[in-house]
Amino acid sequence: MAKVIDKFGRPIRDLRISVTDRCNFRCTYCMPKEIFGNDYAFLPQEELLTYEEMVRIARIFASLGVDKLRITGGEPLLRKELPSLIAELTKIEGIQDIGLTTNAVLLGKYAEDLYKAGLRRLNISLDAMDPFVFGEMNGRGTQPQAILKNIELAKEMGFDIKVNMVVQKDVNVLEILPMAMHFKERGITLRFIEFMDVGNDNAWSFEKVVTKKEIFDILQSEFELEPVDADYFGEVAKRYRYKDNGVEVGFITSVSESFCSSCTRARISSDGKIYTCLFASDGFDLRELVRSGKTDEELTQALTGLWESRDDRYSDERTEETAKKRKKINMSYIGG
Ligand code: GTP
Ligand code: 5AD
Ligand code: SF4
Ligand code: SF4
Repeated sequence: MAKVIDKFGRPIRDLRISVTDRCNFRCTYCMPKEIFGNDYAFLPQEELLTYEEMVRIARIFASLGVDKLRITGGEPLLRKELPSLIAELTKIEGIQDIGLTTNAVLLGKYAEDLYKAGLRRLNISLDAMDPFVFGEMNGRGTQPQAILKNIELAKEMGFDIKVNMVVQKDVNVLEILPMAMHFKERGITLRFIEFMDVGNDNAWSFEKVVTKKEIFDILQSEFELEPVDADYFGEVAKRYRYKDNGVEVGFITSVSESFCSSCTRARISSDGKIYTCLFASDGFDLRELVRSGKTDEELTQALTGLWESRDDRYSDERTEETAKKRKKINMSYIGG
């Protein structure tokens, strides 16, 4: 099997597939409702890759070294018949792990079919236990109870679950301990994500970031934690566990401790553009090649060339200036 590496010697291991740019939330840090309003132009259906096209592309990526897939959005559960895509992806030779990142609003409806299709891993976004704080952050007034209920349901079903909490200064810092206590008791890994400057619409600034160190200090006021070794090269989260019960917490530190040197991820948007960095300005139009009748070999060649010329390391070089001035794709479009 061909293994390609980029300009900094990084192999390609993970493919994140966005299946829709739409979402039923309007998280302030991702799709602020002032910008993503009623007249926002989302992608029309015909521009979206079909499931057949996605599976074909995933198979080609697997031949280049990808063994891990993650389905993202927008909100991926808004795309029709998602379980049928999962079922096909599980059949690809070389794919060892498939995860789904979701806000879990629709999980009650789809969890069983997803499980039957072979999905085992869910990363669920939840930013607060407090109804008002969470309702404000998700922009739709949705209550945490709705998400917590679906987390329980999916856990009972046997899913391996992690919860993602984006932490923002003056917004949900007081939620760190209640969230930690809740998920510690339930044996679910909670990951604290530093607020990132993805896209150009979320009014990001360094001052609004709560760093891993600050979050860690808050946790240590209540809990004893010890580090856990990374499971594999390029793992995104820095992991710790509670000394008393072994439940894990993680930190995603794109701002305070960037992790570009081990970044093995490529992303594909729902309209078939390949991005070799979350903070890229432009993507490579694979859909155009797919729809113009190129063979698997030609697609493989194109993707090999793309990865071999990759020199992205945005977070390593981030400054207030690049964060504000650079044109970046939206998080909801590329899936995080
Ligand atoms: P697993 O480790 O497989 O569970 O998934 P994950 O943590 O990579 O996926 P998830 O979609 O839950 O992402 C969690 C957070 O990490 C999100 O905020 C992503 O935007 C962020 N993230 C994932 N990959 C990268 C990356 O390559 N660079 C940066 N800067 N952030 C990333
Ligand atoms: N900074 C950090 N994390 C973000 N997410 C969305 N936007 C941002 C941002 N600006 C998170 C979501 C989800 C994951 C895919 O990315 O909350 O958990
Ligand atoms: Fe939707 Fe996720 Fe973005 Fe929130 S972070 S608006 S749930 S895509
Ligand atoms: Fe990878 Fe870009 Fe994130 Fe760095 S900033 S870890 S290169 S996606």
